[in-house]
Amino acid sequence: MTNPRKTWGILVAIGCLTVLLDGCGGSGGGSTSPPPPSFALTASPSSVLVSQGSTSVPIELSVQASNGFQGTVSVSVQGLPAGVTTSPLFPLSISAGGNQTATFTLANSLARGNYNVTFAGTSGTLSSNTQLLLTASGAAIAGPAQDFKKQVIYQIVTDRFFDGDPSNDNPPQSPGMFDPTKTNWQFYWGGDLAGIQQQMAYLAGMGITAIWMSPPVDNIDVVANLSGTSYAPYHGYWARDMQQISEHCGDVNNTWAAFDSLIAAAHQNGIRIIVDFAANDTNPNDGGQFGALFNNGQAFASYQNDPAPPNNLFHHNPTITNYDDPFQLQYYTLDDLADLNQENTVVDIYLKSALVQFMHHGADGFRLDAVKDVTWGWQYTLANAAFTTGPTFLYGEWDLGGTSDPTYPDSVEFSNRSGIPLLDFSLANAMRDVFANNGDFSEIDNTISQENSDFVSPNDLVTFFDSHDLPRLLSVDNDQNRVNEALALQLACRGIPVVLYGDEQYLHNDTDGGNDPYNRLWMSSFATNTTAYQLIDQMANLRQSNPALAYGTSQQRWINSDVYILERQFFSDVVLIAVNKSDTIPYNITGLYTALSPGTYSDYLNGLMGGFSMQVSGGTGGNNPVTTFSLPTHTVSVWQSYAPAASPELGSLGPRLAQAGLTATVGGDGFGLSPGAVLVGTTAATVQSWADSSVTFTVPSVPPGNYNITVETNGGAVSNALPFTALTGVEIPVTFTVNNVSPPAGAAVYLTGNILELGNNVQSTNSATGPLLASPTTTSSWFINASLPAGAQIQFTFFQVLTDGSVVSEATSHSYVVPTSGVGSVSVTW
Ligand code: NOJ
Ligand code: CA
Repeated sequence: MTNPRKTWGILVAIGCLTVLLDGCGGSGGGSTSPPPPSFALTASPSSVLVSQGSTSVPIELSVQASNGFQGTVSVSVQGLPAGVTTSPLFPLSISAGGNQTATFTLANSLARGNYNVTFAGTSGTLSSNTQLLLTASGAAIAGPAQDFKKQVIYQIVTDRFFDGDPSNDNPPQSPGMFDPTKTNWQFYWGGDLAGIQQQMAYLAGMGITAIWMSPPVDNIDVVANLSGTSYAPYHGYWARDMQQISEHCGDVNNTWAAFDSLIAAAHQNGIRIIVDFAANDTNPNDGGQFGALFNNGQAFASYQNDPAPPNNLFHHNPTITNYDDPFQLQYYTLDDLADLNQENTVVDIYLKSALVQFMHHGADGFRLDAVKDVTWGWQYTLANAAFTTGPTFLYGEWDLGGTSDPTYPDSVEFSNRSGIPLLDFSLANAMRDVFANNGDFSEIDNTISQENSDFVSPNDLVTFFDSHDLPRLLSVDNDQNRVNEALALQLACRGIPVVLYGDEQYLHNDTDGGNDPYNRLWMSSFATNTTAYQLIDQMANLRQSNPALAYGTSQQRWINSDVYILERQFFSDVVLIAVNKSDTIPYNITGLYTALSPGTYSDYLNGLMGGFSMQVSGGTGGNNPVTTFSLPTHTVSVWQSYAPAASPELGSLGPRLAQAGLTATVGGDGFGLSPGAVLVGTTAATVQSWADSSVTFTVPSVPPGNYNITVETNGGAVSNALPFTALTGVEIPVTFTVNNVSPPAGAAVYLTGNILELGNNVQSTNSATGPLLASPTTTSSWFINASLPAGAQIQFTFFQVLTDGSVVSEATSHSYVVPTSGVGSVSVTW
């Protein structure tokens, strides 16, 4: 037990010490003089999120008086960046016990990011300061965009990010799948759409301009017991009803309220929302709800009680074992997921209406899940259905190992012909080898060169190195320097960068090598002071301000196994990035040339990753010598120059394929402020909106075909050209079958026809559709699903390409009238 006498003694001693420190004692004997007057200045709220070009909520500044303080406080503001104006002007005066509100108005040019603002109050010799975090987000978005090349996408597994609404954690229609302890990795952990909305300032402060969320649709209501483990669909890929929002993401009535609210908040802050859309399958066919699909609450498709072909809503084929076989990929079962038959009219309508409904609710774009596994031709029509609805941005997941993967050529053809950009798996694999497995930079360099020559629009590839399907880089090599270096290079590289949630916090869990589900860990910190967070913000701002990153060419300027110096150039705009990933060796960089003009360039990252300034002197032909420098270990330096374009420079077109009447967008620089013209070939399009860097227009009624698109300023200056394909009309899927064909071994069967979509009767593998797939049921039938204009009357022909390249064609063509809606199918005999 404590000795009361001893405690009393300690208290007296502390009391004396306090008096001595206060300096007010001297008289002793217990009579203390009253403490001096003082005041405290406070700001409420202490953080504000303000979009470019708008005004903050009122910030209340209060002066709390203590000990009889009665003076007036003069409040000044420190740390406000140029481009912010206040109302009223500072300094301002607040009397004791009083308060005053102030607002900030942001210029449109203010860089996205976080700014620490201090309000400093003084009154005579007294002072009190208070802090405020000002987050500048992008200007409010007026409408959907088609050009994402200036964006930085942040990928979120919604369930694992932030719990903004505990009321949906364990909803009544799907109870018992929530683990509040976050130890069962296969259960829900509580993150939701409200959580994403509540972290908007965190995301905006990092310069993020787009969010890719895991599928937010309604998923199965019960766990799937598979091989003795219970799995809940926390990842969102096990759809039960694609027309409704999951009760775990939104509310327990499956309404769109949380989604709509998130869209509104995101758009207010210049952030676009990308929905992960899985058209391949529904949910496991061997547990849970056994593949069942609902249509806005009504039973719609039963995998277990599916009509017989040709009316089947699902494919009932074995599990894919050969991931290089186009037939298995498109028609077999991916893992154990009930595989939808997109060539069935009701499935086609269901899937397209689900996607369109998201567009009507304001979704800005879609990440198309597993495009390698969904009937390829049908997906051309899905893209067309989306673009026919309105401006949007699509990118597909074609999982592959690299540019020598057997399906790489198919992926290139799919992307180029459908106009759907792909997630850049080849570059991701190269980046993972280089930054986590001590690979040589030549792997990245070779991949970029190969893809840049194969893809029509390499700047639209969507780049990443971590994802919810791969172990995080830090699980492979626990070195934060390497994550920073990978991020810096990715954000400077061609393609639209995706940052996986938590990489900026160096999040990783290495159980089972960090594989799924350990890569989908809980977002445990929202710190804004990590190097990665600040790096992403700076590079995201550079992506907005210098079009070399969005639209530029790529040129390797210096390379060895540890060092990569990459130049991006769009006309006279240049960004040069130098990375040394070595742990031990600083390199002397001699013989480096750049397109930057002669001069001195400071590090755009302000030394965040050890960068420095460098000097360029005069050379010839866009090759200006850089004064030799040493690049220390784990250094990234970025040098850049931008000047507003004097004549129109065209960098982007989306969509690249469209029929008359659709909206398309061109992006670039120097289009001028007064409307000029967009020319499709020589035909002027109707301009919908005109700004110096972006113009939207209506695709004119021109004959189907390939065209050059150019922009002509109001003053008559004409831009460079980009390729565009005018489609014949609204596209629908048609399955073509040809019977009675037994080509010699190694030969392939192709389809052509008297229409652009079928290659205008040109009998070459580049122009025609194919190769056709062998029918699984007979030995002499071949088929393929193709995208064709609804209602068109066509003539078509099949031909074989033999191993020596020679062509054997059908003697006569066939006629067919494409249905005006739904899906088509035609079967003929050779
Ligand atoms: C690929 C997704 O990224 C993965 O996470 C998902 O499980 C499969 N597709 C199936 O939808
Ligand atoms: Ca929740």
